[in-house]
Amino acid sequence: MKSIVILISGRGSNMEAIVRAAIPGARIAAVISNRPTAGGLAFAASHSIATEVVDHTAFADRAAFDTALAEAIDRHTPDLVVLAGFMRVLTADFVRHYEGRLINIHPSLLPSFTGLHTHRRALEAGVRVHGTTVHFVTAELDCGPIIIQAVVPVMDGDDEAALAARVLVQEHRIFPQAVRWIVEGRVSVVDGVARVAGASMPAGLISPLPEDA
Ligand code: GAR
Repeated sequence: MKSIVILISGRGSNMEAIVRAAIPGARIAAVISNRPTAGGLAFAASHSIATEVVDHTAFADRAAFDTALAEAIDRHTPDLVVLAGFMRVLTADFVRHYEGRLINIHPSLLPSFTGLHTHRRALEAGVRVHGTTVHFVTAELDCGPIIIQAVVPVMDGDDEAALAARVLVQEHRIFPQAVRWIVEGRVSVVDGVARVAGASMPAGLISPLPEDA
């Protein structure tokens, strides 16, 4: 049984999608938030998952917070640590400690639109396709080997909320899929590129039909 710790900062709908997927061979050992008000904590607790808050505002600097966070995570001896809307930049030491077992979901087709406000920036750039990416975390922000991506169209008349909602539907599909592949031991990284053994989709791409969008 693989032990998974999920980190959240807010609503936690991606964490919820992973919990609801009930992935065989995986156990969600804990959900940890850096914000006491994170809505997702209640969902996790109601599913008998251990919850914890490591409030970043209580620490003098980033390194002190990351040390405390790692201690909280490591009490659960995780095989995989999942950043599900965890809105903190992590130190290189933290990332190194979890190398190869730390994944993140980012609301864009990386390497486009790293950082914040991805949907607004996609609209401003006039891109015709947008999407979301699950990737291994490396020291550089929103970089690292890409495990799976989903593409959505950008429609005439989209505003930020409409585009975000369309992307979120796909996030809830690809994130549990990525976790499942890792739990099954099918994901490897060669020369900085992630490969999924036996994946039915080329390069782990989910491109929904327009009706899905
Ligand atoms: C998701 O859209 C996720 O991709 C994004 O935050 C949202 C969290 O929603 N993550 C980032 O922007 C990380 N840089 P959720 O709390 O409902 O899962």
